[in-house]
Amino acid sequence: MKQITITSTISVLSKEELSVQEIDLMTQAFEARKKAYAPYSKFTVGAAILLDNGIVVQGSNQENAAYPSGLCAERVAIYYAGATYPNAKMVKMFITASPQDRDLEEPIPPCGSCRQAIAEYEIKQETPIELFFMGAKGVIYKSDSLKNILPLVFDKKNL
Ligand code: THU
Repeated sequence: MKQITITSTISVLSKEELSVQEIDLMTQAFEARKKAYAPYSKFTVGAAILLDNGIVVQGSNQENAAYPSGLCAERVAIYYAGATYPNAKMVKMFITASPQDRDLEEPIPPCGSCRQAIAEYEIKQETPIELFFMGAKGVIYKSDSLKNILPLVFDKKNL
């Protein structure tokens, strides 16, 4: 039997290891999380995306009484960025997540659907999007590209 081994590298960072620009992005993700509308799960997520034009776009999870109609913070942010600045490249994305009444210390990775959505834009713009994700405090996981956390991605080549 032939096997394929897939490896990926994630950096584990403390806040002190972030650049000034990344600290600003983290702060904007914290601000976004405060605007989450999550009355059902009470799990709040904030995302902030730095574009190559210098603009930062924020998103937070938006829930709905018809549960599947809600949307994750990452996709709120990335679809807003794509819709508003279609020619801008996404450089870095910062994600923070936790139950609204508790500060998780472990990094919370983006869900599979959000990874697929982020992959679409990374492939479209032909440059990697650096992903940073964390709980509400503690260490930050950094992936240099979405591909690291979504190997064997389904993309337009497969159509
Ligand atoms: N959520 C996100 O916003 N991003 C993710 O990557 C995972 C989950 C939201 C969806 C829902 O509003 C709540 O967190 C609980 O799943």
